[in-house]
Parts: sequence; structure tokens; C-alpha cells
Amino acid sequence: MNSMKLVNLKSSLEAEIQNIKSAGKTIGFVPTMGALHDGHLALVSKAVKENDICVVSIFVNPTQFNNASDLEKYPRDLSRDAALLESKGCNIIFAPTPEEIYAENELNSSFEFDFGGLNKVMEGKFRPGHFNGVVQIVSKLFSLVQPDKAYFGEKDFQQLAIIHHMVNTLNFGVEIVDCPIIREPSGLAMSSRNERLTAEQRKKATEISKVLFESRNFVPNLSPAKLIHWVITKINEIDGLDVEYFEIVNSKTLQTLQSWNEPSVGCIAVFCAEVRLIDNIRYNTVDNLELTIDN
Ligand code: PAF
Repeated sequence: MNSMKLVNLKSSLEAEIQNIKSAGKTIGFVPTMGALHDGHLALVSKAVKENDICVVSIFVNPTQFNNASDLEKYPRDLSRDAALLESKGCNIIFAPTPEEIYAENELNSSFEFDFGGLNKVMEGKFRPGHFNGVVQIVSKLFSLVQPDKAYFGEKDFQQLAIIHHMVNTLNFGVEIVDCPIIREPSGLAMSSRNERLTAEQRKKATEISKVLFESRNFVPNLSPAKLIHWVITKINEIDGLDVEYFEIVNSKTLQTLQSWNEPSVGCIAVFCAEVRLIDNIRYNTVDNLELTIDN
């Protein structure tokens, strides 16, 4: 039987990692903010299958939240998460406190990084500083865990592009494994934030993916700009849904799509009451076969 360890201190994690490395074992890493759902568990199962040891971090990272109430309301349930992870064969959970990870000055100042423009669009426009916080925590976690492979979901498409860029820029010897979006039977993309939706809001939120999937029928006949307009109008017509942005971009550069010949992805953020949900859809079948983003 797998005996999973729950570690809170960096020093304890470092000791565990040293033992694993000196035994010549490989490490698969899944960074999370907890409130685990089947999307996370799919990443964990893949990490367990492809590596000798699976490490999962559970840390609601304060530096990537630009809205204090979102940080406060982010769902947290460590004992439930731990039981789920043990059932999937995870070996080590790293669940530190913010004080264990950050010195006081790091919590009060912004982390600088050259994103090569990838942070200027979409999420970056509406969540200033968000990706600085993501790169800050993921680079710290990579240094601590020293994984061979790290697993990320494509739901956070822009985050994934930025993680690839970070690994290339900072020369981390980590293979980033891109994992497809896991959806509920209704089509709703799985997200920890879905827990905050009432039954009625959840029903409305399923319309987001329905509209995205329907929008594929208009490619290549409508221009990207017209399709953007169609998607935004269609979703905003649903009472209780409010689109923050929908953009169709080149899936490698994240810059505005010029023609359907480029690899394309449509990324959306929608408020369902006060809960902010994101999703995305690929429009280009060639791109669907390419699971790695090279920068
Ligand atoms: O995707 C997330 O849950 C977070 O952004 C991550 C990668 C765990 C960093 O805090």
C-alpha cells in the first residue's frame, strides 16, 4: 500500500527529494492550489503512471491573486484533498504556509520576469501581476521539488504558454507535460471555482462551453473578428453571464489571429454572478495534434 507523506516545511521536502534523487528515482510534479477536482486528479494519475515518485503541492499562492476577496473565498479543504491524492497513488504532498514560502518583502513587492509579451494579452490585461505571481511560485516550487516532469492543464492556456517560456528562459531541466481540459458531462470545464456556483448558476455556466463548441461551425467562413463578436453576443444574451474577454489568438504567440491558417485558440473569461470562469477552444485541427507549445 502507498504510504503518502504530508510535508509542510521546505527543509523536510528537501530531505525527501534528496533521498529520492540519491535512489535514482524520477519525480513527476503536479502544482495545485487544492480544492481538487477530476481535472487535477487526471494530472496526478498521469504523473503517477509516468514517474517513480509523484509530488503534489497544495498552496493557495497569495502573490497571484489581484483580488483580495477572490483569495479569501478560494475553496480550501486539505483533508479531503489528501484523501483523494492518496487514492490516486500520490507519494508526497507539499502544503506549506505562505510564511514558509515567502519572505515578508516578497509578499509586498512584485516579482519581475521578462514574459516576452505573453503576459500583455487576455488574462494579463485583466489580472495585472497575476502571471508574475504564477512564475514566482512555480519557479520556487521547481527549485524545491526538482521534478523530471511537471503536469499542467490546458484550461489555463495562457499560463501553460508562460510556463513553457519560463522553463526555456530560466533553463529549468523540467519537461512540461500539457494535459487536455477535463469537462463535466455538461461540457463545463472543471475548475475549483465551480464549487462557488449555485445549482442555477452552474446550469448557466454550461452555456459557455456550448457556445464555444458551436462557434467551431463558423470556421473558416466567418473572420476571427466576426466570430469573436458572435461568441460574446451569444454568451452575454444569457442572463447572469457577463463576458470579460473573448479573444482568438495564435496558440503559439498568443497574439491576435490574422488568418485561420495559423494555429488558433479562442480564450474566454466570463463572470457567472461574481465567480470568474475561464475556458478555451481550439479551432485548428492541425493544432489539436500539437500538444507542446514551443517558444
Ligand atoms: O494553476 C494553478 O492552480 C496555479 O496557477 C499554480 C500553477 C498551482 C500556481 O499557483
